Amino acid sequence: MDVPDTVATALGDRPVAGRRCLEAGAGVGNATAGLLANGAARVYAVTNDRDHARTTRRRVADSGGDGSDRGNDADRLAVLEADLRSVPLPDGSIDLITAHGLCNVLDPAALSTVAEELSRVAAPGAHLVVDDYDPLPDGAAIGELFAVENAASELARCRPALSFYPAAFLRRFFAGHGWEFERERTLLEPVPWTESHVSAHADEAASMAAECPGEAGDTLSETARRLTTEIGSESVGRMYSLALQRPG
Ligand SMILES: C[S@@+](CC[C@H](N)C(=O)[O-])C[C@H]1O[C@@H](n2cnc3c(N)ncnc32)[C@H](O)[C@@H]1O
Repeated sequence: MDVPDTVATALGDRPVAGRRCLEAGAGVGNATAGLLANGAARVYAVTNDRDHARTTRRRVADSGGDGSDRGNDADRLAVLEADLRSVPLPDGSIDLITAHGLCNVLDPAALSTVAEELSRVAAPGAHLVVDDYDPLPDGAAIGELFAVENAASELARCRPALSFYPAAFLRRFFAGHGWEFERERTLLEPVPWTESHVSAHADEAASMAAECPGEAGDTLSETARRLTTEIGSESVGRMYSLALQRPG
């Protein structure tokens, strides 16, 4: 199974082998792939998106195993379609949690509740890996597209689609939930926002704009399309990895 370099770097100095792991916000299962490849005893991949749950299951099933005595990848994986604000796992049942690219899709209220839940399921001495993006610098063209996406989301759903939390913020935020900071490293700088990232965000902006009342939706949709063409792709910003640990 392909493990992206960002995930491999973030997990490289973490104790994964033989541990009970949780990928919080499974997406297409990138961190799940890394955790299985690094010998996790069990991986719970949690997402609230049915397509993401299906993709993660299929990705692991299609890969089989690596022939080691750890057992089949699929046998070590449980994909849970659930809300991270109410994680369906018992207190203290997880040794290592990854939040790879999760926090930027959580608004502050959701981030707060999710952090409480991740802290609840963490066993004493558990590890937490938070990989995310610093806020974009002023003048980043893709920042305009994200602003349009957020405007459409605010009008349609009364909350932002994307919130980029500085590394220093999340470090102190999780410290406030009882996690001890261990290290920070840079995963990507600059971040290569490819044409497919740009058009995926434009599609997301357009779909939320379609839910907006009045002419605002049409204007936001047109602006998202125009920006997609103007931006193409852009390399800007930083993706970081924070590692924290719960007291033993
Ligand atoms: C950007 S993707 C994360 C990428 C993924 N970790 C990876 O490495 O491929 C964010 C994921 O978090 C999920 N998510 C966002 N909010 C959630 C919530 N409240 N409960 C469960 N999943 C959530 C999304 O559905 C999506 O699967």
